[in-house]
Amino acid sequence: MLDRPRRLRRTAGLRALTREVTLAPQHFIHPIFVHEQAAEAPIATMPGVSRHSVAGAVEQARLAERLGIVSVILFGIPDEKDPGGSGAYAEDGVIQRAAAAIKAALPEMTVIADTCLCEYTDHGHCGPLCQTADGDWTVDNDASLDLLARTAVSQARAGADVVAPSAMMDGQVAAIRAALDAAGFSHVPVMSYAVKYASAYYGPFRDAAGSTPSVGNRASYQMDPAGGVREALREARLDVEQGADYLMVKPALAYLDVVRLLRENFDLPLVAYNVSGEYALVKAAAQAGYMDERRTVLETLTGMRRAGADAIITYHALDAARWLREG
Ligand code: PBG
Ligand code: ZN
Repeated sequence: MLDRPRRLRRTAGLRALTREVTLAPQHFIHPIFVHEQAAEAPIATMPGVSRHSVAGAVEQARLAERLGIVSVILFGIPDEKDPGGSGAYAEDGVIQRAAAAIKAALPEMTVIADTCLCEYTDHGHCGPLCQTADGDWTVDNDASLDLLARTAVSQARAGADVVAPSAMMDGQVAAIRAALDAAGFSHVPVMSYAVKYASAYYGPFRDAAGSTPSVGNRASYQMDPAGGVREALREARLDVEQGADYLMVKPALAYLDVVRLLRENFDLPLVAYNVSGEYALVKAAAQAGYMDERRTVLETLTGMRRAGADAIITYHALDAARWLREG
């Protein structure tokens, strides 16, 4: 027999020699939920993940740093919500305080701030609402742009190294880029959630953030899961034209073809978001004894890297980094 690929799989050394895909702690972005309460609050639908105080968030970042993780992404959960999401751009807002505290304690840590309003609005949508001619409620795109830009500037002022707009409003990257530049933050990159689908996989996150929309859903601004290649390319291209520094695909697992698509069509760094529901599936299966958690997680994250992701936002970050270190 001429073709015997098994020859190269005989020993661990032979397998390691030509392995193409690498997975290391610095590829992970550790998500941290920060609330305004002193006590840590576990999230029932995300076993192992909690909402933390500002001090707790610093501890989380410290744990990550010790494991070789170089970046965290912050999600703020305010005590008070209102129709315009004013907590998102409050000078002493929860994410602003957490960003400042982490940078003060760990100056080397890259702090990414999720830039959206849905955790701060009382109706749970990603911007203020307006009524259409038919009387339906929808998110006011252009009114949201100004608030998202204010949010990004306040996050940069608080010390965030990167802002990550996730509202899926048209023109949000351009609005944020212009506002950052005007405020003296031309050095702060925009990590755009460029290709973000209206997904059932965000369910546990919305429990965690209390951001399930009270009326309607997000289908009029997040993308249709059955939308095709052209729509994904268009969303990514628009954000590149508006000055995005990184592109993101979210969720990751059901959209690895889209990760590969962007990898092959753009030269910006690419981030995959291994979202809350993907995390919950693995945790539930592991807790039931149906799957080996460690092997499942590392295989999944490897798949995202193989699809073309440079970095991965993942709730498994601390565990995965620990497992990789243990070898
Ligand atoms: C805010 C935001 C969401 C997620 C990240 N940023 C929620 C949403 O769009 O409903 C979801 C992340 C996850 O499920 O882990 N716009
Ligand atoms: Zn949002």
